[in-house]
Amino acid sequence: MRLSALSLGFLSVALAARPFLNEADTGIEDVFGALPAGTLPELSRIVGLSDFDWAARRYLNISAYTYYRNGAAGEWSYRNNLEVFHRFRFRPRVMVDITNIESTLPTTLLGHNFSAPFFISPCARGGLAHPEAERGLVRGAAAENILYMPALFATLSIEDIAAAKTEDQVVFQQVYLDSNDTATQLLFDRIERSGAKAIIFTVDSAADGNRHRAARFGVGSADSSYSLITWDIYKQLQNMTSLPIIIKGIMSVEDARGAVAAGAPAIILSNHGGRQLDSSPSSLEVALEIHEEAPEIFTQTEVYADGGVRYGADVLKLLALGVRAVGLGRPFMFANAYGAEGVQRAIQLLKREIAIDAGNLGVADLKAINSSFVKWTPNLWL
Ligand SMILES: Cc1cc2nc3c(=O)[nH]c(=O)nc-3n(C[C@H](O)[C@H](O)[C@H](O)COP(=O)(O)O)c2cc1C
Ligand SMILES: *[C@@H]1O[C@H](CO)[C@@H](O)[C@H](O)[C@H]1NC(C)=O
Ligand SMILES: *[C@@H]1O[C@H](CO)[C@@H](O)[C@H](O)[C@H]1NC(C)=O
Ligand SMILES: *[C@@H]1O[C@H](CO)[C@@H](O)[C@H](O)[C@H]1NC(C)=O
Ligand SMILES: *[C@@H]1O[C@H](CO)[C@@H](O)[C@H](O)[C@H]1NC(C)=O
Ligand SMILES: *[C@@H]1O[C@H](CO)[C@@H](O)[C@H](O)[C@H]1NC(C)=O
Repeated sequence: MRLSALSLGFLSVALAARPFLNEADTGIEDVFGALPAGTLPELSRIVGLSDFDWAARRYLNISAYTYYRNGAAGEWSYRNNLEVFHRFRFRPRVMVDITNIESTLPTTLLGHNFSAPFFISPCARGGLAHPEAERGLVRGAAAENILYMPALFATLSIEDIAAAKTEDQVVFQQVYLDSNDTATQLLFDRIERSGAKAIIFTVDSAADGNRHRAARFGVGSADSSYSLITWDIYKQLQNMTSLPIIIKGIMSVEDARGAVAAGAPAIILSNHGGRQLDSSPSSLEVALEIHEEAPEIFTQTEVYADGGVRYGADVLKLLALGVRAVGLGRPFMFANAYGAEGVQRAIQLLKREIAIDAGNLGVADLKAINSSFVKWTPNLWL
């Protein structure tokens, strides 16, 4: 397409005129704007995941809110994670019997049954939102039978989180590792004893995160050292535990291939919620790269993805490319300001959005969604 000087001029004016919206304006300000700071809106009147961000911003103190909210540097990746979904339009199909769609949400992750193809991504310091800290997340996940991934740097210990699980509840434990094999072995043994069913090894944070917003309040990354992380080390780690080790933080097709070659049972496409390297790609862009260059990867290992997911429609776009399950971080941390009930409501809202959006998209069976339901030419105006 040829762009004339006039349309280029119009483009820059249009771009300059469009402000970034942390949450789209859907009227929450009109309904709850008069609530005094430090109070939460009634939970039953929260209508979507973005509402939890608005509510937490009013309720938490600024350093606690900033720890959850911040992204790296100019936060271009943070914003891109949120905005990228809207650059790709659906290709809805009609005249499809979708009346059974809800029954197709349950899925398995590494052989474990869950009620929906989304999970709670590992986020440190749950105690900044609620005195019950990660208990709210583990109990909310149990009530709705979705997967929770506790973070190593959670407010509560691995053992305290395990103690809050229901009898059959499955969690996957996240870790950061330094190069101390003795400490790693002790940690892996602790995780096995806690009953976690997999280890999530975060590899996107080899160096400290460059976090401007957080630095103003001294609430930067909990993992600030330079870490030695290589494929050889990953292979050694696999010898140190009987648990599957999932790699979190894949951002290119080359590394997705490397993970398959190293025998990773699952990978998580993630730029850490835009908190580590600004200008790192969103997981939707990475999933698209894999779809175009090495689609077989989606069947060679289980591919999960997170970052910027706020709506059922966002989940559908990732699943359309072959992603098996989608993670959310901040929405659940903010929902946890209400404790377990808030986390449960967030899960219920997202389940319903996935089902009704899939229905309107003309998807009869969520497991059979494929890339034909999205137009993969980006709309550059957004
Ligand atoms: C407050 C906060 C703490 C986080 N802590 C960790 C962590 O300890 N380990 C980790 O692997 N990822 C961590 N992450 C990244 C999340 O696992 C996830 O990749 C990210 O939050 C997804 O983006 P979203 O918040 O837009 O959903 C953290 C994210 C946030 C927001
Ligand atoms: C998972 O679900 C399948 C199908 O419903 C069932 O056969 C299987 O026993 C379940 N597994 C567990 C561990 O509950
Ligand atoms: C903010 O809230 C957190 C969690 O309640 C608390 O630990 C912290 O001390 C508070 N910080 C300030 C500056 O009030
Ligand atoms: C490695 O970890 C072990 C167990 O925590 C500890 O005793 C030891 O001091 C650590 N070694 C180094 C070099 O830090
Ligand atoms: C893992 O253990 C197996 C069997 O003991 C051994 O053959 C292999 O070399 C080990 N791999 C690494 C990377 O340590
Ligand atoms: C994708 O799904 C549509 C609708 O179910 C179906 O008609 C089409 O054959 C599928 N395409 C592929 C490549 O499987």
